Amino acid sequence: MTRPGATARRADPLAVHSGPGARVVAAPAKLNLFLEIIAKRPDGYHDLESLMVAIDLFDTLEIQTRTDSTLALTCDPPSLSTGPDNLVYKAAVALRARAGRTQLGATIHLTKRVPMQAGLGGGSSDAAAALVGLNEIWKLGLTREELVAIAATIGSDVAFFLTPDMSAAWCTGRGEVVAPEEPPARGFHFVLVCPPVGLGTAGVYKRLTVPPEPNSGAALRAAFRAGDPAALGRELFNRLEGPALELEPLVGRVRHRLAACGPCGALMSGSGSAVFAVCRDRAHAVHVANEFARARPADEPESRVLVVRSFTP
Ligand code: C5P
Repeated sequence: MTRPGATARRADPLAVHSGPGARVVAAPAKLNLFLEIIAKRPDGYHDLESLMVAIDLFDTLEIQTRTDSTLALTCDPPSLSTGPDNLVYKAAVALRARAGRTQLGATIHLTKRVPMQAGLGGGSSDAAAALVGLNEIWKLGLTREELVAIAATIGSDVAFFLTPDMSAAWCTGRGEVVAPEEPPARGFHFVLVCPPVGLGTAGVYKRLTVPPEPNSGAALRAAFRAGDPAALGRELFNRLEGPALELEPLVGRVRHRLAACGPCGALMSGSGSAVFAVCRDRAHAVHVANEFARARPADEPESRVLVVRSFTP
């Protein structure tokens, strides 16, 4: 998705296509290559450290202004909630309230491609895309910093998807403190495996034991910056994996099997249930994906398997 007239580049997921009062905004998924829990906070959330990267798997939002104050959201698939519990709806309400313009309305159609309850940030990314698109079509003129402040009220991961150029970021606080991470010259290739089960973030955090001595992400970050998939694969880490695998053993089974297909490393993303493998290049990723699909035991439910890539500026 690139702006019409812009030079072709992969790393512009918030690219906005113009039309009369209308926008189409792409909302990418993310992977957590490292996620460590630092402490439990008095407000019930957890302080964490995470390296997040955006990947080329997108939802899309088609947004249009209206002459009334209705927020009319439709979704594909239609089974999705279109009410106040949808993060796109929440974002729209929060944005117009912040701007003091509650009379503004919009028609929004959300096409979901990013699996839900998968730890891929789909709902958060949709909310960020709604903030960006509505800020444009409602001509509110809010700065990215102002959008980031609203994002933090919607969910811990939303701010990441407002990162300029959206390639990678080192996220701290409860996830909402986002510092852009220097990306390598070439993107990384992954196999993404989405088992047919979802995991709720709150439930995974509830089972978590906060480590007395948190792991450092320094080696993982160095491997990322160096663009070294072998080192990156060795340094992958996610503290939420243990509790998630207790809740949903299929995730552990899939991760174990994926790791046995010869990638540089495999890990669960976020609070799960999706699992990914780091590969040397696209051909390696295709090979690992095929091997994973071929070797599926008859009693293992079929997962969605995709070959994806991180953004490179
Ligand atoms: O912020 P978000 O709505 O994504 O968080 C969902 C739930 O996950 C929170 O209600 C909380 O239980 C848990 N969480 C946490 N620490 C974080 C992020 C999320 O405990 N840093």
